[in-house]
Order: sequence, then C-alpha cells, then structure tokens
Amino acid sequence: MEAENAVLSRLSGNWHRRAAVRRDEPPLDAFYEVGRPDYPVALTPLHRHPGLSGVDPVALDKALYLAGLAFHRHTMVIEQHIVGPTFQRALDDWFRDADGSVFQSTVLQAAVDEQYHTLMHFNAAATMRRNRALHVRDSDIPLPHLIARHRDRREAQPLAWQRDLVSLAFTTAVEISIDAYLVLVGRDPDIQPVTRATAALHWRDEKCHAAVSEELAQYVFLQLDETQRDFFMEQLAYATRCFAEQDFSAWHRIAELAGIRDGRRLIDECAEIPEARHLIRDNSGINRLWAALDRLADGRYGASPGAGAPVGASR
Ligand SMILES: [Fe+2]
Ligand SMILES: [Fe+2]
Repeated sequence: MEAENAVLSRLSGNWHRRAAVRRDEPPLDAFYEVGRPDYPVALTPLHRHPGLSGVDPVALDKALYLAGLAFHRHTMVIEQHIVGPTFQRALDDWFRDADGSVFQSTVLQAAVDEQYHTLMHFNAAATMRRNRALHVRDSDIPLPHLIARHRDRREAQPLAWQRDLVSLAFTTAVEISIDAYLVLVGRDPDIQPVTRATAALHWRDEKCHAAVSEELAQYVFLQLDETQRDFFMEQLAYATRCFAEQDFSAWHRIAELAGIRDGRRLIDECAEIPEARHLIRDNSGINRLWAALDRLADGRYGASPGAGAPVGASR
C-alpha cells in the first residue's frame, strides 16, 4: 500500500511551527472578564424556544456557566476516550505496512495535540472556576451523549473488526466535524475570552486533524472488503448524526443544576423544535470524505447522508 502522501508530508513538516502545544500559554486569568456569559446562548437549545425571554436571568447565567464547563469537559472526554484510543489502534495495527511513514508521524503528532487540548480545556475550565463563586463539581456535569452512543454501538458488535470500525467512524466524524463546533464558540465576540481563545486555538489544530483523519479513513478503507466498507459507511453516517445533535441529556441536567423553573419541560419542548435539534450544521468536511470514499468504491454509496440522501448500502 502507498505509504507516501503529499498532504500528510506537508502537515508533518510544519507541525513544529503551527501546533498549539508548541506555543506559549497565555496568562489565562487575564482572559476572564466579569459580566460576560460563559457560553453563547445562540448555541443552546433554549435559543430557539419562545420561552427563553421568560427564564430568570440569574438561572440563565448559571446555565451558561455550566454549559461552558460542559463544553470544556465534553471536549476533553471525547478526545481521551474516543479519539486517543483510535489513534493508538491506527499506530498498532492499521499502519503496520507503513513503518516510518508520514501516516505514523502525523497521527503521533495529532495524538500529542489531543493530549495538549485536554490540558488547554482543563486550564480554561479551572480559570472559569477561579473567577466565579459557583461551586459545581465535574462529576455533576453529565458525560457527553456521544460517549454513550459510541460505547453502545461498540458493545452491540460481536466481532473485533466491527468494534474497531465503530471507533474509527466516531473518531472520523469527531475529527472532521469538531472544527465546525469550535469555530462557533471561538468566533463568538461576546463570551468569556478564555473560552473563546481556547476554542480558537484548538480549532487551528483541528483544521489539520480533519485532513489527517480524511487520509486515515481512506487508508483504512482501502484495506477493507466490501462487507466491512458497507459497515464503516453506516457507522460513519450514524456517528456524524450523533455528533451534530444537540445534547439534550446534558441540557436536562444543566437546566436542573441552574435552577431554571420548569427546565425539564422547556428542554423537552426544545427537542420538538427541528432547528433546536442540531448543534453543528456544517457537513462540508464529512461530505467531502464521503465523496472520496464513494469514488474508491466505484459509486457504491452515492451522495453523503449529510446532504440529505439515504445512508446508502448499509447493513
Ligand atoms: Fe483536539
Ligand atoms: Fe483532533
């Protein structure tokens, strides 16, 4: 199998200049401005609910604080429990015919990036805690629904290759779509600078990881037989949908902890509003990968499900 790759060679060669881990860390407490919201209200499911204007401002402020903590924690957990192990799997097995190649070096670099991203988000959350007199433990904030969906999908598969491909599909969906989420947070001019800056710094790395993950997915895809390819495409469509959805289970808990009156009912009603169900709307990265995989499979899968088409030859 071809072990050279122009895209990955370029990314591998400039990692030491572009990676967040190679930059100086800013003084984070200088990035906290009292009075600003901790998370964009436009990214909450409540934004689409007509009852938002009736929510007590103190409770809403606490909900945005909790949503900011959840943003940092969820990013850390997804990278630690889904992305990191998949990168290790790639290094241990999928790249076994590519010793010393840019496939290995770029995935190792991305794995280092992810470790640093978890530290960046940890430090940003710690800065939020230092600057607010709201005492919330990490364990009070629910894990992202993506963790349960990934675990349940893996546990439902009887074969090791199926479990591996579930994890690769979830990692691919995350790595290609997370920058669209980070951009939404990193470009909001009104929220706390510490969260905005962390998202923006993270986003720059993830733009490169999207390219790495596209190449990784294609590299593995070429090793699969038709049954395995069909299975992977089905999981990729599912994982993409899961990652793009608003996390209503987390929002039930946030509304409860924040003391929003009738919070559970409000969140349940948000789930009935079609525009409130999606957190990420930019499917361009997944659509591009889907088209590339479809070409490798001689048009077997058709248009990307992100474009509204059926999932394809799934089983
Ligand atoms: Fe990351
Ligand atoms: Fe990443």
